[in-house]
Amino acid sequence: MSLFDRITPEQWACGLPTGWAGKGLLDYHEQLPSTNSRLKELAKQGAPEGSLCICHSQTAGRGRLQRSWLSAAGETLTFSLLLKPSIAPEHFPLCTFAAALAVCDAVRQLCPPLEPLIKWPNDIVLEGKKCTGILSELVYDPAGNPCVVMGVGINVAQHSFPEEIARTATSLVMAMPESGSAITPSPLPLLAAFLESMEASMDMLSRDPALLLAACAERSATLKRRVNVIGREENFTGTAEAMDETGALLVRDESGSLRRVLSGDVSVRGLMGYI
Ligand code: ATP
Ligand code: BTN
Repeated sequence: MSLFDRITPEQWACGLPTGWAGKGLLDYHEQLPSTNSRLKELAKQGAPEGSLCICHSQTAGRGRLQRSWLSAAGETLTFSLLLKPSIAPEHFPLCTFAAALAVCDAVRQLCPPLEPLIKWPNDIVLEGKKCTGILSELVYDPAGNPCVVMGVGINVAQHSFPEEIARTATSLVMAMPESGSAITPSPLPLLAAFLESMEASMDMLSRDPALLLAACAERSATLKRRVNVIGREENFTGTAEAMDETGALLVRDESGSLRRVLSGDVSVRGLMGYI
């Protein structure tokens, strides 16, 4: 069942207020295994910057660390955007933060009074539950230039979730105060707002990465909190104090040492639960 309208290329063609984001190839599918996998293929074939892959129903969505992203048809806004940023290679991982900030901006614009926060490094949360996952993947175009496939899944219209994520997941509709919960945010304006904000945050990243990180720190659900860091080899507990200039999380452990946590390898959870 579709809880919100499909996004069609015809709708899209009329007036997107962006310079490059969403202005490359528009690849819309009724159903796909994964928009990230599809856009990676298109990028390898030379798709231009700003190309967008959207699907109504995603059957094999991926998260980090080989985990899956679950989405029911018509309830999640599911898309991937192709970035070809002119930034230093070491700043490429910061594109995830640019996307996280853009999701927060878009949700705040379209769904007041919701105040989304960023759970380091790649989730957006509302009231301590995850409403959006972001997966960025590096890929090379035919000329050998690095590109980033930025995949975003926003839970929009769910009223419930499968048991395995029911305690940690929420949707925009579920997080809305009672009076607003009858209104399902429309996916097209939400996507357009994301793309516009994404351009602004990518601009910020190329001009001044520290500014982007400071903006993310302001919206962080992780900083200043006690966390469990769950790594491949070891786990430890500490206080998330700051992010360094690479976006790594600096966690003060129980012995007082400041430990640098990289996003690729770990899960960071609150001591009492998800946050
Ligand atoms: P961590 O909290 O461990 O850092 P993560 O939240 O960043 O992990 P990923 O590592 O990217 O998540 O993996 C995806 C995870 O998101 C899944 O394991 C599942 O727990 C959760 N998940 C899957 N689909 C949804 C969804 N629609 N809404 C909210 N959470 C989901
Ligand atoms: C996470 O859970 O932290 C990341 C999930 C990312 C999901 C999005 S949905 C669109 C894109 N396609 C995928 O297969 N994954 C991303």
